[in-house]
Amino acid sequence: MDKLLIDGGVPLHGEVHISGAKNAALPLMAASLLAPGMHTFSNIPRLRDIRTMLRLLEHMGAVCEDEARLAIDTRHIHTLEAPYELVKTMRASVLVLGPLVARYGEAKVSLPGGCAIGARPINLHLKGLEQMGAQVQLEHGYVVARADRLKGASIFLDQVTVTGTENLMMAAALARGTTTLYNAAKEPEVAALAEYLSRMGACIEGVGSDTITVRGVDDLTASHFTVIPDRIEAATYMVAAGITNGHLKLVHCRPEHLGAVTEKLKAAGLVIEIHGETVEVRGNGRIVSVGVKTRPFPGFPTDMQAQFMSLMALGDATSVIVEQIFENRFMHVLELKRMGADIELEGRTAVVKGVAKLSGAPVMATDLRASASLVLAGLAAEGTTEVHRIYHLDRGYETIEHKLAAVGARIRRVRE
Ligand code: EPU
Repeated sequence: MDKLLIDGGVPLHGEVHISGAKNAALPLMAASLLAPGMHTFSNIPRLRDIRTMLRLLEHMGAVCEDEARLAIDTRHIHTLEAPYELVKTMRASVLVLGPLVARYGEAKVSLPGGCAIGARPINLHLKGLEQMGAQVQLEHGYVVARADRLKGASIFLDQVTVTGTENLMMAAALARGTTTLYNAAKEPEVAALAEYLSRMGACIEGVGSDTITVRGVDDLTASHFTVIPDRIEAATYMVAAGITNGHLKLVHCRPEHLGAVTEKLKAAGLVIEIHGETVEVRGNGRIVSVGVKTRPFPGFPTDMQAQFMSLMALGDATSVIVEQIFENRFMHVLELKRMGADIELEGRTAVVKGVAKLSGAPVMATDLRASASLVLAGLAAEGTTEVHRIYHLDRGYETIEHKLAAVGARIRRVRE
């Protein structure tokens, strides 16, 4: 297992190229099951979760070539199953459920268990499919869904769910009749998927609003798509510039996807300028404590809560951070406290009293974004921080140590 060693205290300067978004790429790859043919995707990030999705598609019979662009040939799908071994390492595997039932009339997908950030049920995915006429049963830890042909339905999502919206949108694309999803997710990754589905021949309206209407068609055709830039990766590097009091130019971003984060970071004292697809971020020597509540897009993303908390750990007063999406997404708190942060946790609220400095320590986290927050804290801390279990980081941040080292961080990966 690898770990990262970070000697903190160096202001970061330079340019960082933002990669394609993991959470946009995964549903696009699952969507390839909707149409037999050669699907091609550019700007796919090289990440562990992407490799897991490729293994899953290959297990089903897809032929994948991952070169300058990713090509997925879905002409010979023979297995309609997502096995436990793959689903347990990546919950997003559940995204194959909608496409398989819609296209092949059957799917067997391991039920994801709870995970480090919360219970994360998929009841809304299943209820939506049932409303579209699927018979859904739980057998030996697997969801087994069957339908001759799904039919359009009016589906109210009790809670905003990103992959739930994506799964049902994909299922609806091949259903007979019209499906309306109420209280749908508005995340840019959902919009990107809708754009690819439309390119494949789907009829989708209302994307970006909370009501999405999908008029089902008989067939879809494989096409090409370029994955949107990763807004969470970009936002993480924005914090890296601020927490080290440095100056970073983030190249190839979509600033319109970063609105809530940009506003909060400006309120926290960072100087942020936007030029087209480049976001320039500078520290101004002082971090202002500000509160934040996580919300579905366009609100402040839960996927940035941990990283924002590292910044607030060095704030000039007290910040109140409320996690409203996942009930247990605070694994980073105890680790940040080991680095000298002053944080009190009560239910879904963290009260962060800024301290003058953090000190390097051995730390580890059990999820992706929590691990990123520890790297950020390590970049600002005095002395050496050892971040263990970095396979979590490798799930979602492309070559993070190279990107950081290229802008001056003293960071290296070593084998434990
Ligand atoms: N929920 C239910 N029932 C459902 C579905 C969701 O109760 O059937 C609840 C969840 O338990 C949670 C809330 O609804 O409390 C929102 O969950 P959502 O379904 O939106 O999360 P997700 O689709 O499983 C995606 C991202 C996550 C990101 C969340 C929230 C992907 C592959 N994953 O997860 O990304 O945190 O949306 O924005 O898109 C990450 O990248 O680190 C990550 C965890």
